[in-house]
Amino acid sequence: MDDRKAPSAAPRDPVALGIDPDIPSVARIYDYYLGGKENFPCDRAKAEEMIRLVPEAPVAARNNRAFLGRVVHTLATEGVRQFIDIGAGLPTQENVHQIARRVDPAVRTVYVDFDPAVLVHARALLTAEDEAIVVEGDARHPAGIFENPELRAYIDLKRPVAVLLVALTHFLSDEQADALVGYVRRAVPSGSYLVVTQLFPGDDPPEYVEEAAAIYSGTNTGAVVGRGRAHIASWFEGMKVLEPGIVRVESWRPRSRVDDPAWRMDTEIDEGAPGILGAVGRIP
Ligand SMILES: C[S@@+](CC[C@H](N)C(=O)[O-])C[C@H]1O[C@@H](n2cnc3c(N)ncnc32)[C@H](O)[C@@H]1O
Repeated sequence: MDDRKAPSAAPRDPVALGIDPDIPSVARIYDYYLGGKENFPCDRAKAEEMIRLVPEAPVAARNNRAFLGRVVHTLATEGVRQFIDIGAGLPTQENVHQIARRVDPAVRTVYVDFDPAVLVHARALLTAEDEAIVVEGDARHPAGIFENPELRAYIDLKRPVAVLLVALTHFLSDEQADALVGYVRRAVPSGSYLVVTQLFPGDDPPEYVEEAAAIYSGTNTGAVVGRGRAHIASWFEGMKVLEPGIVRVESWRPRSRVDDPAWRMDTEIDEGAPGILGAVGRIP
């Protein structure tokens, strides 16, 4: 994590690119947790404030990212050939298309985000034509994402697709998050997958949960909302939820390879403690 101390290398002439370097961005804060350099002083200050309150925040971010990698590998191995990654973020390696295309180079991935810093960064990362596309979209207006002509020219919405809402829904209100999930479920065909990770305040939420929300109120999303298992389960109602169900992200098939039956639950993990829950559902 030494890189986190390094001065930002990012981004070139941000204002001209539509990026406001003075408003902390949840994508750039997350980038800082992951040890990236696509962040500004205001992002680092927010992240450090958060780390003082919750020292395990960077570990949680890495666990979340690792979950995403395991899920994408699992789904690609199961035959999923299209991914829509909403709230894609800034990571520089082990992105969805890279993981999935190791399974099959024909996999198509669309990255969607509303943060100009993410869009600039993601476009710069793509080197080969057609390996993935990046579209601007706001999860609070899912029709704008699924009706986007660029997305529809690239993804066949008559064929199964995995929609990734990973570390996204906690930046939305209950109403917005429910509407997004409902829209996704209607927009994709049977045999598609919904993947969610969501901040969980714990079975017995500690006081710092409210302080953490206050810290994030000064960011570009203006909020972070923890949710419990019952709320997350409501998003998967009627779906087949893949084993091991709705669990902490680090408990989801640790050491997973679908060709490796040795994956197991880690009994050391406290499922009731605050953290990030994840789940994968197959749409009937
Ligand atoms: C914590 S990052 C997660 C990145 C990635 N999904 C992961 O889990 O590794 C959250 C991302 O969601 C994006 N985001 C937040 N609110 C959004 C919205 N309303 N519409 C689209 N993207 C949003 C942020 O810009 C950021 O890139």
